[in-house]
Amino acid sequence: MEDVDIFRDKTVLITGGAGEFGRSASQLFAERGARLVLSDVDGKGLAEFAEQLAQADVQVASISGSVANEEHCRQTVDLAMQRFGRLDIAINNAGMSHAPAKTADIDSKQALETVQVDLMGVFYGMKHQIPVMEAAYREHGRSASILNIASLAGIGGAPTISMYAAAKHGVVGLTKSAALEYARRGIRINALCPAFARTPMVEDGLLADAGGDKKAEDFLTRGIPMRRLAEPEEITRSMLWICDPRNSFMTGQAVALDGGTSAM
Ligand SMILES: NC(=O)c1ccc[n+]([C@@H]2O[C@H](COP(=O)([O-])OP(=O)(O)OC[C@H]3O[C@@H](n4cnc5c(N)ncnc54)[C@H](O)[C@@H]3O)[C@@H](O)[C@H]2O)c1
Repeated sequence: MEDVDIFRDKTVLITGGAGEFGRSASQLFAERGARLVLSDVDGKGLAEFAEQLAQADVQVASISGSVANEEHCRQTVDLAMQRFGRLDIAINNAGMSHAPAKTADIDSKQALETVQVDLMGVFYGMKHQIPVMEAAYREHGRSASILNIASLAGIGGAPTISMYAAAKHGVVGLTKSAALEYARRGIRINALCPAFARTPMVEDGLLADAGGDKKAEDFLTRGIPMRRLAEPEEITRSMLWICDPRNSFMTGQAVALDGGTSAM
């Protein structure tokens, strides 16, 4: 099979579909034949992006809502089943961070929201994605893949974003535990742990907080051996490989894409 067709007739659900990684991943999967189910709390951005995709003949369904709401996560899976009759790949990518501050200065409401979105959002997603994937394996022998977008802050400490790091460590623990539970039930479950990429989340958050200029970028990347931010496509291209059905022996991994940081 050519790479160009690798996701033909497969349904790929992506949360945070209106964000930087979400848009880039959507394009890459669609170029390889996937049908898309996109969700995002940014209803307007999502509707505009879904319209663009539809204009380009991509089969796409979209739904707005927060992943911190379990009912929304259930409805997103229902939408995939109603529109396309199957769910092959789920990328739990929606995420946010609290304002950068040392732990004692983090606003408690923001800390709770970060956990509700970044950790509970992934749990609610998986809770409703897994049963339909398990049934497809049992009834049709179809394997599936879940990819949770954690962070380098999910495998190491991250000063000034400690509650984000706590939530992302939770995502890695959830990923590994669920991977063990479903290893013989046709579902591969992995996590991706990117370092800083050039996206609004970084540019409007940590980078802006450090001054927003070249000096701020040098400061932010001083601990990264490659001494630079990742470009979004450097992250999203790896999602293709992780979710590729031919990558069939890989499960329970937290894959770092970090310019070498975790090798130190
Ligand atoms: N950008 C980076 O450098 C970086 C590094 C490591 C991990 N990540 C993770 O990658 C994922 C995608 O981030 P991004 O860089 O594309 O950021 P982004 O801000 O461009 O996209 C995030 C998307 O998630 C959506 N979202 C936020 N809260 C939501 C909620 N409650 N329910 C549903 N959708 C919600 C936003 O509306 C946005 O469209 C996040 O989980 C983030 O933590 C990003």
